[in-house]
Amino acid sequence: MPLVGSQDLFKKAYAEGYAIGGFNVNNMEILQGIVDAAQEVRSPLILQVSAGARKYARHEYLMKLAEAALQTVDIPIVLHLDHGEDFEICKSCIDGGFTSVMIDASSRPFEENIRETKRVVEYAHERGISVEAELGTLAGIEDAVNVKAEDANLTNPDQVKEFVDATGVDSLAIAIGTSHGAYKFKGEAKLDIARLERCAQLLPGFPIVLHGSSSVPENLVQQCNQYGGNLPGAKGVPEDMLRKASQGAVCKINIDTDLRLAMTATIRKVFAEKPSEFDPRKYLGPARDAIQEIVKHKIVNVLGSAGKA
Ligand code: G3H
Ligand code: 13P
Ligand code: ZN
Repeated sequence: MPLVGSQDLFKKAYAEGYAIGGFNVNNMEILQGIVDAAQEVRSPLILQVSAGARKYARHEYLMKLAEAALQTVDIPIVLHLDHGEDFEICKSCIDGGFTSVMIDASSRPFEENIRETKRVVEYAHERGISVEAELGTLAGIEDAVNVKAEDANLTNPDQVKEFVDATGVDSLAIAIGTSHGAYKFKGEAKLDIARLERCAQLLPGFPIVLHGSSSVPENLVQQCNQYGGNLPGAKGVPEDMLRKASQGAVCKINIDTDLRLAMTATIRKVFAEKPSEFDPRKYLGPARDAIQEIVKHKIVNVLGSAGKA
């Protein structure tokens, strides 16, 4: 099966009340862990690559890794650009074989966000490629964007219909209080569920995307710290909130940080227990297994997409 776009996957997800994981890929072991998990529980899958990850792993290698995955599994896989900051990077990914892109012009003024998104949509749709855009901004750090909490803006529901109609975009990421990275909430999670519900009401049948949706499991933070790490404890997005959102209009949920924590906690443990280990397979192998486990958990217990491939 070739790589697929996301439109048909979202249609089914919306109708049947589940979400598809947008899992971030940085290297071969991460990709294998994610793909093995999705295949094991027969879930559709979105592999996503940020600008920073694309620079790190290199476009051509990522394409070949995705193609290799498709040769060994029989589930639908989307290869998606995460947080493309302008038309040029979206075009480059489309020309290079990605089947979906995100144009994230959310930090620009509304009219400019519409203009840039529309430009990407026109180029992408002529080539059968899906487009995600963002309205409202999340706080947090990515390689390309660093938004301070005070500069983050929750999505204004009054703008969503106009934005979707004007751009022709296929899915929309909205900001309801989640943020990127491991330090989302000092105390209890504060999420504006009413805002999500209002956006969903105003866009009937339309797929909504949630970014910054790692749950930052306490056991993984503890494991990092038990074996020499120094991560401040923090709260992530509660999984039961994500489970409910998946049953409604949210069709894609982005998870990167939890995979990073699983990988790092595992590698720290291996090195702490075997300080003389220097065979990369002996720490990257267990890290790949840990990624497979956490992705399986998300698919089965949070997203509800198991058995939907
Ligand atoms: O949206 C953020 C993702 O976690 C990607 O992060 O830019 O560090 O690759 P990155
Ligand atoms: P987390 O940092 O919460 O995993 O969010 C990832 C994300 O939104 C990627 O686009
Ligand atoms: Zn994101």
